[in-house]
Amino acid sequence: MSSSLTVRRIAADQGETYRELRTASLREAPYAFGETLDEVLSADAATFAETAALHAVSAVSTTFILYTEGHPAGLICAFFDETPQHHAFVCELWVAPAVRHLRGGEMLVNSASAWLAEQGAPEVYAWLADANRNAMRFYERLGFGPTGEHAPISRAPQQTQTLLVRRVRRENAAFQG
Ligand SMILES: CC(C)(COP(=O)(O)OP(=O)(O)OC[C@H]1O[C@@H](n2cnc3c(N)ncnc32)[C@H](O)[C@@H]1OP(=O)(O)O)[C@@H](O)C(=O)NCCC(=O)NCCS
Repeated sequence: MSSSLTVRRIAADQGETYRELRTASLREAPYAFGETLDEVLSADAATFAETAALHAVSAVSTTFILYTEGHPAGLICAFFDETPQHHAFVCELWVAPAVRHLRGGEMLVNSASAWLAEQGAPEVYAWLADANRNAMRFYERLGFGPTGEHAPISRAPQQTQTLLVRRVRRENAAFQG
């Protein structure tokens, strides 16, 4: 049941949990991400510890973790880019197959969007591989639409990805009253 699913911001000491979730996601759904499994496997454990410590407190980048009965089962990252407009993005979205279709993905996207909205984002962007038709439907149902921007995928430059955007919803932005 979806009631067993919870989402919490990453804690500073969850570098190993973050590494395990990134590894599992790239193993299970390599088509969905710009990074490769080899890149994640070859990264130093300290890199994940540093990211967790940063994402636990930063005002410009974070990670949310999905739990089922207390066990980590998915993740999403959220960050502001370094352009003058400071566009807000979600990335690295993944839900373990055993708990899909229980709205965990929706909970992760909404948690990340609410956090970005609290930091002032008027809209949230997501890059999505054009071949990832399931995720395209998922994002469309959550109110994301195409920006018209396309780009090659870094791990497979012959394949393309599309930039999607969703206006921040009032119910996801408590600060807007
Ligand atoms: C995409 C992904 C994160 C979705 O996770 P999930 O927990 O199954 O998501 P949800 O349960 O919230 O939504 C799943 C289904 O319910 C639908 N849904 C979600 N919210 C809904 C709502 N409010 N009303 C009706 N349907 C809804 C979705 O459209 C989706 O249906 P579909 O798969 O038949 O198109 C998951 O499939 C995944 O990890 N895929 C592999 C990695 C990936 O593609 N990541 C995206 C990278 S950009």
